[in-house]
Amino acid sequence: MIRLCAVSDLDDPGSKGFHNERGHLFAVRQGLQVFVYVNSCPHFGINLEWQPDQFLDSEKRLIQCATHGAQFLIETGECIAGPCPGDQLTSVECEVRDGVVYLP
Ligand code: FES
Repeated sequence: MIRLCAVSDLDDPGSKGFHNERGHLFAVRQGLQVFVYVNSCPHFGINLEWQPDQFLDSEKRLIQCATHGAQFLIETGECIAGPCPGDQLTSVECEVRDGVVYLP
């Protein structure tokens, strides 16, 4: 079990990148929910962000890749716009307990 961060470390909505023994990951918070994905765009297999911790579009409604603008649903990681529609971010199982996000 890895402690990723406190939920309060994430803006609501907001995102944050991590590098740990599971690799490059990022977490997105929406209210009480937190979603974690591998930081690799299914289009080219590269990190999604140019600026640290910036994984969302300007309205903070979708995950957005900085390279060619692919956009993904926060809840499922499915690409709905850009160069790879229908592709998926790789989701990472996580668990929120007592305000802390853990990776089982
Ligand atoms: S690398 Fe992400 S959209 Fe092309």
